[in-house]
Amino acid sequence: MKELNINGYTETIIERSDYPQEKCKSILENEVTAILGYGPQGYGQGMNMRDQGFNVILGLRRGSSWEKAVKDGWVEGENLFEISEAVQRGTIIQFLLSDAGQIQAWPTVKENLSEGNALYFSHGFGVVFHEDTGIIPPDNVDVILVAPKGSGLTVRTHFKAGRGINSSFAIHQDFTGRAKERCVATAFAIGSGHLFETTFSKEVHSDLTGERCVLMGLLQGAFLAQYEVLREHGHSPSEAYNETIEEALQSLYPLVAENGMDWMYANCSTTAQRGALDWAPKFRDTLKPVIEECYQKVLSGEEARRSIESNSKSDYRARLEEELAEINNQEMWIAGKQLRQLRPENL
Ligand SMILES: NC(=O)c1ccc[n+]([C@@H]2O[C@H](COP(=O)([O-])OP(=O)(O)OC[C@H]3O[C@@H](n4cnc5c(N)ncnc54)[C@H](OP(=O)(O)O)[C@@H]3O)[C@@H](O)[C@H]2O)c1
Repeated sequence: MKELNINGYTETIIERSDYPQEKCKSILENEVTAILGYGPQGYGQGMNMRDQGFNVILGLRRGSSWEKAVKDGWVEGENLFEISEAVQRGTIIQFLLSDAGQIQAWPTVKENLSEGNALYFSHGFGVVFHEDTGIIPPDNVDVILVAPKGSGLTVRTHFKAGRGINSSFAIHQDFTGRAKERCVATAFAIGSGHLFETTFSKEVHSDLTGERCVLMGLLQGAFLAQYEVLREHGHSPSEAYNETIEEALQSLYPLVAENGMDWMYANCSTTAQRGALDWAPKFRDTLKPVIEECYQKVLSGEEARRSIESNSKSDYRARLEEELAEINNQEMWIAGKQLRQLRPENL
């Protein structure tokens, strides 16, 4: 455990060394973990548990996920079942369907839960927005959360590289009195690096804001704005792309990840340093109200309702393809595709 003290705010970080594999195995000795869903998270969390010899099974509907699971070595009737049977066999039920899929599958999951089960989520969405999702767990189960701070694919690649991806964890309901130890042991069993505690609400509000803003929405908007300005002033696609995206992702952002922003500012040219120091506050002042507006819409449930409504439509896939094609056809990403192929490692 590590006590963090950041400007007077103290937090306890649980480290992997606090829960070595043997300790997790002993806590989970009599548990069967049933993972429902085999998207990036089901795949990453399930494979990591299976590789370490934890007692884990999958619960899927027949279709593309089922076929992928069979290819990955899961065996029907042994550790691969239909959702209802997996819930009956499991004691810790990891609900890792898509958030829209969770709404549809909830009646099946609920009717097959047993007293004392732990219902595990990797996102607070279903429980927090229960008025829209209908997901209200019964009183006689533990309700826990482990949310890896990254894609399920990174959960897997980091595990295979001997690293871990940091996760938040939360206890929403402790029926058995063992909710926390079940939660923390499972968090390390799926390959987490270190853990910090949150609540279901805090997790979902920060996660929805993050993906709408700095992680994806704001990033795409900022890249495009700068690319367009450069192109409108006569810069070539290569110049605009390299100055906007390639240099950011290939050179500067990894250095910021490694060393922090102050180091980056201290280790660029004095000209870059002066400009970045002058312009950063302007961007902060311009963007903060937009991020606040987004947070308020997340808080009020408006963003959740919009997601549920749009993702539950029957033509959801076709509309998504159209929207993604629009991004794909932006000149910035057409340039990106061609320029990525010219990286020495791709030649
Ligand atoms: N992706 C991330 O970066 C990330 C990070 C942290 C937490 N999470 C959370 O982890 C959970 C899982 O996310 P994910 O990205 O791994 O998966 P996902 O892509 O959102 O979900 C895919 C899985 O859901 C199944 N599914 C969808 N609708 C279904 C239905 N009606 N009945 C049965 N199965 C259905 C799919 O099965 P088929 O193949 O049969 O359609 C597939 O196995 C979510 O709560 C998500 O918010 C995700």
